[in-house]
Amino acid sequence: MSKNKILFDRVSLEYPKEPRGPKRWRNGENGSANGNCALVLENIDLAIQTGEFVSILGHSGCGKSSLLKIVAGFVKPTRGSVWIDEHQVQGPRADHMFVFQEGALFPWHTILKNVSLALNGLKDESERRQEARQYLELVSLEAYEDYYPHMLSGGMRQRAELARALAAKPDVLLVDEPFSGLDYLTRLQMREEILYLHGMLDKTTILFVTHDIDEALQLSDRVVIMNGPPGRLHSSRPIEVPHPRLLSSPVLNQMRNDIYHQLGVHVAL
Ligand SMILES: Nc1ncnc2c1ncn2[C@@H]1O[C@H](COP(=O)(O)OP(=O)(O)OP(=O)(O)O)[C@@H](O)[C@H]1O
Ligand SMILES: [Mg+2]
Repeated sequence: MSKNKILFDRVSLEYPKEPRGPKRWRNGENGSANGNCALVLENIDLAIQTGEFVSILGHSGCGKSSLLKIVAGFVKPTRGSVWIDEHQVQGPRADHMFVFQEGALFPWHTILKNVSLALNGLKDESERRQEARQYLELVSLEAYEDYYPHMLSGGMRQRAELARALAAKPDVLLVDEPFSGLDYLTRLQMREEILYLHGMLDKTTILFVTHDIDEALQLSDRVVIMNGPPGRLHSSRPIEVPHPRLLSSPVLNQMRNDIYHQLGVHVAL
């Protein structure tokens, strides 16, 4: 296998059509191709480098979340394989991977405790609290450390989740539409926070699923477009524009138009 951080090698996924749930990691069980299954992902080949920020765009239902679940080891591909650091993904690995998603904070813990739980390696509770406080400061939530998640606004909860991701210092960060529940202005602020996080964790490889083309253009090193169903790789294109990026620049305008075109979306209505 190659020296990529994440490698998708001819990954296909079928889900059973009847409501039994996906084929999961159970006694080495693998999905089987038969008439009772729906093909969700077909022959995905993709190589992602260490530290790369890759956004995945595609219409609803084309299999973006399923792709992330395979990388996270929650779902096993029916055919093909996913490799991280040249090791085949065989199931969930909490050690180097962090899944960033809405509603992931433990509601029964304060945000300080939530962040301290993400810290790896520190045994002493007061040390953990001390370090967790530093991460809350980075996202300007130090005044709210004793708040429970339900006492925070949506944007504050997302910033607490960012603090958790920073604390975990993951090798691989999987992000599935984290800001979809936020208002437009808060989403814009969260873009800044994500860029900041990527700057702090520059060795972390980020797979970022979004429906927001501008979010992808502003944040990522590369945009991968899927079509389907069944989900296939349509294109993979680097964005070689340094930060800070002006979305109205001619290069990004052109890329935006190309992406709309590839997704079959009409921008002039
Ligand atoms: N547990 C499951 N069992 C059966 N089918 C599933 C399951 N999870 C997802 N699917 C199907 O797989 C297909 C892809 O779903 P997925 O959630 O990966 O799409 P998506 O691209 O993330 O969509 P969205 O943009 O709406 O989040 C859909 O047709 C969906 O119905
Ligand atoms: Mg999804």
